[in-house]
Amino acid sequence: MRTTEQIYSNYTDEDFKVWNILYNRQLAFIEDKVASEFLQALDVIKFSAESIPNFNEINSILSNLTGWNIITVPNLAPAELFFTHLANKRFTATCWLRTLEQIDYLEEPDMFHDVFAHTPLLSNKEYTDFFQKMGQRALKVIHDPAKVTMLQRLYWFTIEFGLIRSNGQTKIYGAGIISSKEETAHAMSKESTKLEYDAVKIMNKEFRTDTIQDTYYILDSFEQLSASFSVIDHLLFN
Ligand SMILES: [Fe+2]
Repeated sequence: MRTTEQIYSNYTDEDFKVWNILYNRQLAFIEDKVASEFLQALDVIKFSAESIPNFNEINSILSNLTGWNIITVPNLAPAELFFTHLANKRFTATCWLRTLEQIDYLEEPDMFHDVFAHTPLLSNKEYTDFFQKMGQRALKVIHDPAKVTMLQRLYWFTIEFGLIRSNGQTKIYGAGIISSKEETAHAMSKESTKLEYDAVKIMNKEFRTDTIQDTYYILDSFEQLSASFSVIDHLLFN
């Protein structure tokens, strides 16, 4: 059932089953393809296949580590609200799960995407520094649609569909990849274009939300994200 607040006792046996199947299946598939930072973060945030994460428990762990919180929303938040939350270290997440019938594909993000794929890295300092600064920049340009679009592209090609190099290997860290077997396989294959992370190129690159991506950008480290604000700010404020 879609509620705007997590009432843990409302989760059904089917919800637990859906979480368990998706968790085990996706983790087995991504384990050798995902950034080590994400796997470490899964432990830090104490996720498991056996229990649907409790938002209060997630928040007590995150607030100690990075000061972040997840808050519930029924569906995707509008841009200004979304960026206001980011600027204040809040990430908006759904708290409902797809049904067993929808297990292989769901068009809109549910809790498996928002919580399994997005929240572990909210325990990572470098990652969240970038994420918060993105929200702060967006609020400064919120009445300029072209600049808001630039920041949405930046969000898209990092937080949702970013890749990162680790010990010479390319790994996934974007939540849109992490929560999708098809996107993971495509991002790791020779079929997709992989370019070096370049904030200027990204902010000028259109993206599509209705299909798997054709291009992904590879970071050298999460520190590289915050370091790129010199060029991001140049594009936004000059
Ligand atoms: Fe997402």
